[in-house]
Amino acid sequence: MNILVMNGPNLNMLGMREPDIYGHETLGDIEAQCRQLAAGHGMELDWFQSNLEGELIEKIQQAVGKVDWIIINAAGLTHTSVVLRDALSLFPGEVIEVHLSNVHSRESFRHVSLISAIAKGVIAGFGASSYYMAINAIPNLHSET
Ligand code: DQA
Repeated sequence: MNILVMNGPNLNMLGMREPDIYGHETLGDIEAQCRQLAAGHGMELDWFQSNLEGELIEKIQQAVGKVDWIIINAAGLTHTSVVLRDALSLFPGEVIEVHLSNVHSRESFRHVSLISAIAKGVIAGFGASSYYMAINAIPNLHSET
């Protein structure tokens, strides 16, 4: 099974970016743990981060036919990007939306997600563990389908 983990704008700055909200782990730390978990489940994992909306869209288009699951933390684009949602809608596999922080306990503009309605599920508020929970859920979800 092939998984693509996608990360949107400013997530490359994790570790120094508002650590009281997003934690002290870097994106590299999270990637390493995700790769270890995926390998333990016998899954192939591709990892991607971009600060550019268009690059994220191109990566999703390239994943069509190659990737079974996309785990995405679209960061601020979650709340604003119709084009990113449209790209995820054309992806024929499953999508899991993740967030480090509990977006629902923060500013009201973060309560809206353009992605949630087309996602299989949403995991938010568990820090880096939101990513790990998503990876660990996939083998069970896959056997249900
Ligand atoms: C985030 C939450 C978003 O509201 C914010 O813009 C981010 C990170 C999270 O992981 O908690 O950049 O997606």
